[in-house]
Amino acid sequence: MTLITDVRLRRVLDSRGNATVEADVLTESGGFGRGKAPSGASTGEYEAIELPANEAIARAREDAIPRLVGEVHAGNQRDVDAALHVADGTDDFSQIGANSAVAISMAAGKAGADVLGAPLYQHLGGTFRGNEFPTPLGNIIGGGEHAADATNIQEFLAAPVGAPSVEDAVFANAAVHQEVHDILAERDLPAGKGDEGAWAPSVTDDEAFEIMAEAVETIADDLGFAISFGLDVAAAELYDAEEDSYVYDDQVRSAEEQVEYIAQKVEEYDLVYVEDPFDEDDYEAFADLTEHVGDQTLICGDDLFVTNVERLQAGISAGAANSILIKPNQIGTLTDAVDAIELARDNLYASVVSHRSGETGDATIAHLAVATGAPFIKTGAVGGERTAKLNELIRIEDNAV
Ligand code: PGA
Ligand code: ZN
Repeated sequence: MTLITDVRLRRVLDSRGNATVEADVLTESGGFGRGKAPSGASTGEYEAIELPANEAIARAREDAIPRLVGEVHAGNQRDVDAALHVADGTDDFSQIGANSAVAISMAAGKAGADVLGAPLYQHLGGTFRGNEFPTPLGNIIGGGEHAADATNIQEFLAAPVGAPSVEDAVFANAAVHQEVHDILAERDLPAGKGDEGAWAPSVTDDEAFEIMAEAVETIADDLGFAISFGLDVAAAELYDAEEDSYVYDDQVRSAEEQVEYIAQKVEEYDLVYVEDPFDEDDYEAFADLTEHVGDQTLICGDDLFVTNVERLQAGISAGAANSILIKPNQIGTLTDAVDAIELARDNLYASVVSHRSGETGDATIAHLAVATGAPFIKTGAVGGERTAKLNELIRIEDNAV
């Protein structure tokens, strides 16, 4: 019933105004699914390869579509994704582009779900389990590669860990975002927004820590449940390999000093989440920090692991981090993303399903997070392409309870 009868690929806009790949998958029985590829700015060195949208589309039309149409059932995600790998023939999707691959993979998943008349998360093998929903991490203040003249740390993330429901958690993050706006206005610090909708004021990292602490405390008091916060340092962007040091606007930290600095911030602000505090090749520093504060906070590998089971396995062996960021476009298919989540789960690493800084209205990651029981999802706090996922989570909860 779910035999693929057509795959259409086109160039559409992403949230930064760049071209990205949109895929439509149609099946024999009239099933339909549409997927759109996101795109990173602070991309990891070991990610699957994104090609210019035009090129990715042309190559996928030539190499991948003939292996899918009339050949593979959209309802069998592993078959679809295996066919994409065979069509590509490389280990990083550099032939057809990870952007074409992920758009087709997600579109096929949705077409399979459509035929069943089931939500995508159920088709991917999951159930919505009441209070075990993925807690949204909301990007509230940020800089790095996502905004000029702002913080060095890429993201300060609200974490409404005490929220009783998805809906409460989503609105808590939006309230923290609003509260930070008010604090910045009081301090006469006008701010635009970065690529993910976070405020991008011209403040030091220390000032951003203070503002976040104040905002989450105020909103937690208002709402009556715990809200913590965390970071995505995106430290590979700060790392100077020749000097083996991290270059901030106000100081330079050696790798050892970076471990101390992050550990001290975890203690001082009770951070619940720290992503990419070190360069993407420094498993040792990740292991060192995990040893020190891994029992108090999630230490998450994004550029470190790039949703790749081999890199995750190396991290597990080294004791590096205790959590993995899951971005389907870093690895190219839903199946590869699910495999990374399963390896993580078997080794007690928490999975955090994530958007990219360049996004679309595609809400697949909301379903992936629910399907796999991920404890967190990173998808911004405000802005249409971010709220597309947050509102989908609210709908999943509403339809399930
Ligand atoms: P990117 O940033 O999508 O620009 O890579 C997001 C992140 O680093 O988590
Ligand atoms: Zn990151």
